[in-house]
Amino acid sequence: MFCIDARVMRSIEFKDGKVRFINVRKLPHTLEIVETTDYRRVAIAIKNMEIRGAPAIGVAAAFTLALAAYHSRCRDVECMLSELERVAALVRSTRPTAVNLFWAVSRVLSKARASAGGVEEVRRAVVGEALRMAEEDVEVNRRMSIIGASLIEDGDVILTHCNTGMLATVDIGTALGVIIRAYQEGKKIFVYATETRPALQGARLTAWELKRAGVPFKLIVDSAVGLVMARKGVTKVFVGADRILRDGHVINKIGTYQIAVLAREHGAEFYAVAPTSTIDLESRVEDVVIEERDQREVLEVMGVRIAPQGVEAYNPVFDITPPSYVSGIVTENGIARPPYEESIPKIALGKQ
Ligand code: MRU
Repeated sequence: MFCIDARVMRSIEFKDGKVRFINVRKLPHTLEIVETTDYRRVAIAIKNMEIRGAPAIGVAAAFTLALAAYHSRCRDVECMLSELERVAALVRSTRPTAVNLFWAVSRVLSKARASAGGVEEVRRAVVGEALRMAEEDVEVNRRMSIIGASLIEDGDVILTHCNTGMLATVDIGTALGVIIRAYQEGKKIFVYATETRPALQGARLTAWELKRAGVPFKLIVDSAVGLVMARKGVTKVFVGADRILRDGHVINKIGTYQIAVLAREHGAEFYAVAPTSTIDLESRVEDVVIEERDQREVLEVMGVRIAPQGVEAYNPVFDITPPSYVSGIVTENGIARPPYEESIPKIALGKQ
């Protein structure tokens, strides 16, 4: 048995032609580790949200290509590259909003194309790049946790949304990594975590991670955010992001925008924490595809129908927070501050 409490396993790994991942749909009641040699199984896991969270999705996408390359029966490079293109198209069709997925697929494919000497060379290049991306994810999250924790002071009351911890990345996490790091540094903090309807990433996953880390916290329903801001003295909000645009728009889990507006109203600082791989310097806000998922996620709770038969639901799962509500964006290269048109391109390129 793989023991996550002993830190034997990351949320997703690739070893000897196999991918192993924690099926987060089963948490907190069951810690199921899926092991597969089939790239299609990993693509399904991304689509079904057994693997979710922008950085984890990115690495899972890279591992999908690594599995395809590792087990490919192609005897020439042309065959292998076209097989990889087909797998890339499958992966790109799984989830539309998290830019890390598209970034990861392009990065691995360009390695494959650049190393087209022979089948073995392409195989090695693809697997090597995917493994490098997983290692980088851990290091980038570690750096963000240190930088972000410097923003947290004794006495801070922090609100967080969705799940942005180790379960949403390869390890450590983005916004939750920052919060847990601050607590481990001895800072006296209290956290409010939203349950995050409809998939309940907060209630199921963030609560599980905060409890394991020993951080003092309470879970709240999403609609309690206004009262909690007004009555419980929230000083800072830390959230993750699925895509951050050049001008500072933050695309993240549905509900983030209303939290940012409430934070402004109540004088709380609002930070997004995301690696530079989440920054999209190309897209305009109107071009961003907001994922809509199955209506049943809203009409039912844990598979039990709540709404009357015949009722329809609209289920967008991300929203867009305008830059004017964002106090700062924490990345592995530092904190971007307004004006974002200037700071974000610099930080994305590693210049400050
Ligand atoms: O639909 P999900 O669960 O993949 O959405 C996740 C989020 O919105 C997270 O906030 C985001 O990916 C940042 S993860 C570190």
